Amino acid sequence: MISINKQVSEEIAVISLKSANLEVLVTNYGCHIISVLMPDINGKISDVVLGFDDIEWYMVQDKYIGATVGRVANRIKHGKFKIGDKEYSLAINNGPNHLHGGLVGFDKKIFDYELFENKVTFHYLSYDNEEGYPGNLDVFIDYELIDKTLMVTYRYASDQDTVVNLTNHSYFNLNLGNEDILNHQLRVDSDYINCIDSDGLTLKDELAVIDTPFGFKKLTTINQQITKKHIQLVNGNGFDHPFKLNSSEKQIQLYHEATARLLTIKTSCPYVHVYTANYLDGELRGKNNNYYNFRDGICLETEFIPDSINIEDKPSVLVKKGESYTAFTSYTFEVVK
Ligand code: BGC
Repeated sequence: MISINKQVSEEIAVISLKSANLEVLVTNYGCHIISVLMPDINGKISDVVLGFDDIEWYMVQDKYIGATVGRVANRIKHGKFKIGDKEYSLAINNGPNHLHGGLVGFDKKIFDYELFENKVTFHYLSYDNEEGYPGNLDVFIDYELIDKTLMVTYRYASDQDTVVNLTNHSYFNLNLGNEDILNHQLRVDSDYINCIDSDGLTLKDELAVIDTPFGFKKLTTINQQITKKHIQLVNGNGFDHPFKLNSSEKQIQLYHEATARLLTIKTSCPYVHVYTANYLDGELRGKNNNYYNFRDGICLETEFIPDSINIEDKPSVLVKKGESYTAFTSYTFEVVK
């Protein structure tokens, strides 16, 4: 079932997608996921993503809580890249680098929308040279709820060669309001991460996760790994790294034992960027008057590798003029007794 939960203004709405087991609230403002309401082991329903009570907060926050991030997620070194012989300069908004689409990224754009039975389709036409990116880029994002699964599909095409790397930046916490995520267990089917520098910029260098704090091939408590000594954890102030995904089956899982809540993520994307809210600092007042602190959530950003255009020989983020592209990520929220 789909309905308008709240008409915030003539242009902005909060939309509810509801099934027997799940309710998801989203908005056409930056295509944010506002709430994911699910039961725990005792049938008590509560929210498992960080977010805000009022849309105004989404307009001023700089932590991308719940946002759709674009045109290109994560950092582009010095905001510069080349396609063929042509060099482009993007808006700089994170130290010397470009982050999450620039000064006014997709998280701050109002999308058009159309409601279907279990699905909302958001649409935005990003104009040529927006934040320095080439090409008029037509973007469609579907949020579809099927039973316990939220399926997010990204479709896009440009009238010039350009770069695109879209993701969702929800901070998950399966026991939100009661504890941080250190006690959650994480599984990522990955043998390699890419290293980052001290500005959080992704480097070419891969690191085999075996015998490092980045080993999450079976469900492992985050605290057990994040407290280990490793230069890469220093650079990231915690986890802030792209994990290269091995297969397309049950690639990522987040589990919270006491509530028995399990989130399973599958994606067509080759990487998941794991970010443990290393820069939440207690300044933002979220839902139910909760202030969001260090490690209060975990982002599992399915995407192409950050800074692909500068570090990959054949950049996976490259979008050729006139061609259509699709990527999907599904999020299944269930109680595992
Ligand atoms: C990045 C972090 C950044 C954060 C901003 C994450 O996706 O990896 O480095 O600080 O977004 O909220």
